[in-house]
Amino acid sequence: MDVLKYNREAWDAQVEQGNMWTMPVTPDEVAAARQGDWEIIVTPDKPVPRDWFPEKIDGSDILGMASGGGQQGPILAALGANVTIFDNSPNQLGQDQMVAEREGLTIHTVQGDMADMHQLEDASFDLVINPVSTLFVPDVRPVWKEAFRVLRPGGALVTGFCNPAIYIFDIAASDDRGELLVKHKLPYSDLHSLTNEERKRFSDRNEPLEYSHTLDDLIGGQLDAGFLLAGFYEDNWHEDGKKEVPLANYMNLFVMTRAIKLK
Ligand SMILES: C[S@@+](CC[C@H](N)C(=O)[O-])C[C@H]1O[C@@H](n2cnc3c(N)ncnc32)[C@H](O)[C@@H]1O
Repeated sequence: MDVLKYNREAWDAQVEQGNMWTMPVTPDEVAAARQGDWEIIVTPDKPVPRDWFPEKIDGSDILGMASGGGQQGPILAALGANVTIFDNSPNQLGQDQMVAEREGLTIHTVQGDMADMHQLEDASFDLVINPVSTLFVPDVRPVWKEAFRVLRPGGALVTGFCNPAIYIFDIAASDDRGELLVKHKLPYSDLHSLTNEERKRFSDRNEPLEYSHTLDDLIGGQLDAGFLLAGFYEDNWHEDGKKEVPLANYMNLFVMTRAIKLK
C-alpha cells in the first residue's frame, strides 16, 4: 500500500473537514507576533520554550517539517525568519500560502515526504521545527537523518511525538465508551494491528494511517542520526475538539525534544 499517497489524500480531506490541526492562525495572532507577542505550539498545549528557538529569529532560516496548516509558518515569518514549510499535503501547504497572501508574508512551501527531503539542500537551516507528525510515517529513523542533513552545525531539531504507550489500547472502545482496554502489542500500526473492518471506521472519516514507533527509534534514532539531546518535556491533551480523551487522565500523551547538531 502507498502510505504516503493515502496519508496525503487523508490530510487533504482533513483540511476540507476543518480538522483543528489544519486551522491557520488569525490576523490578530500575526499582528501580535509582529509586535513581539507570540508563542508556538507543536504539541496540543504547552508552548515551545523561547530558548528552544535561535536567539535572533529575525533573519534565521527555519524549516517547518510536516508543519503545513498555516500555524507555525506565519508566526515565524512575522518574526522575520526565512521560512520554508515542508509537508506531504498540498491542501495543508495551501493554508500557509493563503495566510502568507492575506498577511503580506513570505513563506516558501515545498511538497514532499519528510523521510526524503531531497528538494532541500544540505546545511541550509538553523532550526527544524516538527509538530507532532512522525506518527504518520512507517519508519521514523530516515526523518531524523534528513533533519540532521538539512541543519547547519549548531542548528537544532525541535520535535513533538506521541508517547508510544498510548497505542496499546483499543481505540474504538476508548472512543465509544471511554474504556481503556489493553489490546495491541507494540509497535502498533493502523495497517497491521487492525482488521480491515476496524480500519474502515477510520478510513471512512478520512483519517490518516498512524504508527507508534519504539522509543529506540524515536529517541535513540535522533542520537544515532548524530544529534545531542538538549531539551525534553511532556505535554497532554484532554480534549480532542469537544470530545474527552480518557487516557489523558492517566498519562501525558506527548513528548517534546530539542536535539542539537554540534558539527
Ligand atoms: C497534526 S498535522 C501537524 C501540522 C500542524 N501545523 C500543527 O500545528 O500541528 C500533521 C502534518 O504532517 C503532515 N505529514 C504527514 N505525513 C507526512 C510526511 N510523510 N511527510 C511530510 N509531511 C507529512 C500532514 O500532511 C500534516 O500536515
